[in-house]
Amino acid sequence: MTTPAPVRFTQTDLDAIAAAEGRVAVIVTPEGKLDPGGRRINRLTRGALARMIEGGALDGKEPGAVLSLAWPSGLAARALDVVVLPRNADAATCRRAGVALGRAKGTRPLTLLAGALRRPAEMALGAVLRAYEYTRHKTAETETPGEITVMLNDPDAAEAAFTPLREVAAGIFLTRDLVNAPANHLTTTAFVAEIEALSALGVKVTVLDEAEMERLGMGALLCVGQGSDSPSHLAVMEWQGGGDEAPLALVGKGVVFDTGGISIKPAAGMEDMTMDMGGAGVVTGVMRALAGRKARANVVGLVGLVENMPSGSAVRPGDVVTSMKGDTIEVINTDAEGRLVLADVLWYAQKTYQPRAVIDLATLTGAAIIALGHENAAALSNDDALCDAVLGAARTEGEGLWRLPLGKGYAKALKSRIADVKNVGGRPAGTITAAEFLHRFIEESTPWVHLDIAGMASVKAESVHAPEGASGWGVLTLDRLVRSRFEES
Ligand code: BES
Ligand code: MN
Ligand code: ZN
Repeated sequence: MTTPAPVRFTQTDLDAIAAAEGRVAVIVTPEGKLDPGGRRINRLTRGALARMIEGGALDGKEPGAVLSLAWPSGLAARALDVVVLPRNADAATCRRAGVALGRAKGTRPLTLLAGALRRPAEMALGAVLRAYEYTRHKTAETETPGEITVMLNDPDAAEAAFTPLREVAAGIFLTRDLVNAPANHLTTTAFVAEIEALSALGVKVTVLDEAEMERLGMGALLCVGQGSDSPSHLAVMEWQGGGDEAPLALVGKGVVFDTGGISIKPAAGMEDMTMDMGGAGVVTGVMRALAGRKARANVVGLVGLVENMPSGSAVRPGDVVTSMKGDTIEVINTDAEGRLVLADVLWYAQKTYQPRAVIDLATLTGAAIIALGHENAAALSNDDALCDAVLGAARTEGEGLWRLPLGKGYAKALKSRIADVKNVGGRPAGTITAAEFLHRFIEESTPWVHLDIAGMASVKAESVHAPEGASGWGVLTLDRLVRSRFEES
């Protein structure tokens, strides 16, 4: 797995600055005020920093912006990064500045002169998250990430604030690695192995095989994988960090590759469907984060791991399958497979754990991208309070999320002539009819939020905290939600 850059908080060592390798970063206020670290840099560079400011380089710069000076004389570093930051900058601005530093940093070491900065841990987190690179399949690049050294007045307080964030970053990196992984490497079996590795952190892992799922009557989940040579699995991760209260259940769609099945997808862009396990990737990353920081909450993660392939044994359009709940489903389109997987995992989650709440994540519909692009995931819910909490957590963490409605009128589109329900509702409101399909498998009394992350799990351009490719969207939001709503203080 890709390891996040190590972060070390130390007292300011003015003598070490001139010799620091990689990049050195200083903070200046938008008015151009220097702190002691900045004054030291200015002296070492024979006034270059002051000239930069007096020359108007800061004019019109947003708080959190970073300006760079290459190969500065007087420093061993290859670049000096100047962070424009007001004294009272909030967490989001500090995170944004960190992201800009992380983008410039890459795999090189970074020394940040943070002085009296109020939220150094947030800035370090931004830098760590943005400095991710997926090099697993590049034969030439085996670089270990350069360390981030943060020099500041109160290193102990910064380290205490960063300790849990280090675990959240590790969870996000795990999610990104899983989402970036090609489907010949991340098979259902390989995914199970990644999940089993979490038991080293105290997560209780249980894996159901096809025979067990057959016995439980999971005909919806099983039909999706029946054309593949890889076995289908339902993997469960239990983190018991709280008391004896019912857990929060996180459910993820884990289609390791989605060809569409017999309703096969067009060739162009089909390679992107390696990310169709994005929901399961987020659930796994969140469990990694919660266990790593020993969250004082009970959370169970459940992921349905399948591969959707066309073959002589594949499910056909028109087939009728029976779900664990007992509802029969007419499979009109074998490419609407995610909802079939989730139907059984959602039902199993409720029957087995009687959870306080259920949140599912899935790269479920292309329609979510048509509606919201790559700026927001879609949230659909039967519970305003829980949904508001999820939306609030996303806003705090800077992850785009927008609510769409549910409604009986939409559910009508799923009426089948020969079965209880069909698995597609036509082109209009595709994200909503997909959510209404899932809604059938949610008990009236279960507060539930469905997150359609089709546009967010992996993106072609850089995103808020990540370079292009897998974003890890959702780990920050769910970790925040657990902290604010499910954790004992
Ligand atoms: N995995 C896809 C949805 C998807 C599309 C995710 C693009 C990420 C990017 C899903 O299984 C799917 O194929 N959905 C169909 C549903 C349709 C057949 C009702 C879709 O969105 O076209
Ligand atoms: Mn599909
Ligand atoms: Zn899919």
